[in-house]
Order: sequence, then structure tokens, then C-alpha cells
Amino acid sequence: MKKLFENNRRWAAKITEDDPEFFERLSHQQSPEYLWIGCSDSRVPSNQIVDLLPGEIFVHRNVANLVIHTDLNCLSVIQYAVEVLKVRHIIVCGHYGCGGVETAINERPSGLIDNWLMHIKDLYHRNLSKFSDCTDHETRVNRLCEMNVTEQVNNVCHTSTVQGAWERGQFLQVHGWIYSITDGLLRDLEVTFDAPNQVPDVYR
Ligand code: CO
Repeated sequence: MKKLFENNRRWAAKITEDDPEFFERLSHQQSPEYLWIGCSDSRVPSNQIVDLLPGEIFVHRNVANLVIHTDLNCLSVIQYAVEVLKVRHIIVCGHYGCGGVETAINERPSGLIDNWLMHIKDLYHRNLSKFSDCTDHETRVNRLCEMNVTEQVNNVCHTSTVQGAWERGQFLQVHGWIYSITDGLLRDLEVTFDAPNQVPDVYR
């Protein structure tokens, strides 16, 4: 634990050295332009991947970057980010080799988390035919990782918060990205939405 406090003092000193007013300025307000919804995986640290400083990105992370319609935690983060902070972009970022996605389809019990991952199991089962050409487990997992991002982008777009923002004419884009742990690079899955007419009627 001692090491973490030492790291912290060194980090704060370095930032202050580069920009003496940094923390003072940030203490007054945050006005991030982005909300990041990502996986809890320690290898996918939001700020570092996009090289942004404290104050520049609002973050919500959970196992397998899920946006569940009844998850008050995630829904509250989205509401605060959109209605109070007025972020302009919501980024759902998954990653290849996601342990949550892998666990969802490995057909072994994993305890409590199986309930959370059931949403991925459902997605997989609904789209089984799209995996028929997968010859190995890794390809299957990675394709499901991508599909999961698209699904969560849809879920973000269906929330009353996002629908309401679009209704009011607030600028808000929802993006789906995937990160590769093996080379540190992000890829845009090109599932960007910014208007209600891009989602099915029943969700509007
Ligand atoms: Co993951």
C-alpha cells in the first residue's frame, strides 16, 4: 500500500510541476466532453488509452461494459453525464479477449457473475447463426466482443436520457469502439448514432 501513496505523491508533483494551477483549476469544476463506458479489465484504463488528463473524461466501468436497462448505477452515470455535464460523446468501449465475454460462453458455472453475464449469453444465443463459420474459440469470443459493443451502443441510445437529449436538440453522439490488448490500439466499429430516427420506433 505504501508504494501506491508514494506513486501518488510523485504523480501529483509531476502534474503540478508541468502546470502549477492544474489541481486548483480542476477543483472548481469538471467539464468533460466524453463519457466512457468500458470494461473493468485492468488492461483497459480509459484515461491512459486516449491519453487524457483528469477532468477530461467521465468514466463508468463494469465487467464486459454492459448497459442494462435496469442498472441504476450505469443509468445514473449516463443521466448525470448528459444532463448536468453535457458531454458531447458517449463512447462504449469493449476489448478483444474480454474475460467477461469469454466466461459468458464457456459453459462452466462462475457463481454470482453468471447473472450479470446472462445478457451476453442472450446476445450470443440470439445470434448463433452469425458464429457458424468460427473455427476456434478465440475468433468466437472476439466476434462476440464486437457484437456486445454494438448491442450496448443500442442500449445507450434507447435510454430515456439519450432520447430526451435528442428530443431537446442537444448535440450527443454515441460511439462503439473496441480496444486491442495486444497492440494498445483502438478501432471504431462505426456504429455511431446521433439522432432518434436511427433507432427502431418502439424505443423512441
Ligand atoms: Co473485459
